[in-house]
Amino acid sequence: MIKFTLNGRIVETDAPPTARLLDLIRDEFELIGTKEGCGEGECGACSVFVNNLLQNSCLIPIGAIAGADIQTIEGIMETEQFKLLDESYSNAGGVQCGYCIPGMIMASAALLSNNPHPTEAEIRDGISGNLCRCTGYNMIVDAINLAAKKGDGLWQKK
Ligand code: FES
Ligand code: FES
Repeated sequence: MIKFTLNGRIVETDAPPTARLLDLIRDEFELIGTKEGCGEGECGACSVFVNNLLQNSCLIPIGAIAGADIQTIEGIMETEQFKLLDESYSNAGGVQCGYCIPGMIMASAALLSNNPHPTEAEIRDGISGNLCRCTGYNMIVDAINLAAKKGDGLWQKK
């Protein structure tokens, strides 16, 4: 039995320790905002926060997350930061098919929390682990820039 915190709630699972965190989140806990793209740590579609650090859940065996604090896109949806990113992605036209967007939003939140006023190069670096197959990078960069500009004070570390 492995116990951990998922979006603020203590949960447990009987899944084998080698099972992927991505599958656990989607199949057992039915949090389908976290997507599978490559399954190999290359695309960022499966991004979650593990103890506040951005991680690819397709690469994490659940045996490694006993006692950890996991947040998925569903877990951050009620935050002011998410609302600002949602609005900024929409205003900048950053969403095309939408498949990469939960991972992009997680990466954007991680970036802005660490660096509230990033340069364009820092933004591109911050999303370098996330692939958008619709080639919407310029609009995504604009969206993050917008969220940085509008979010004065919101991204400061608590
Ligand atoms: Fe995990 Fe692509 S599905 S990085
Ligand atoms: Fe389609 Fe990014 S919006 S993959």
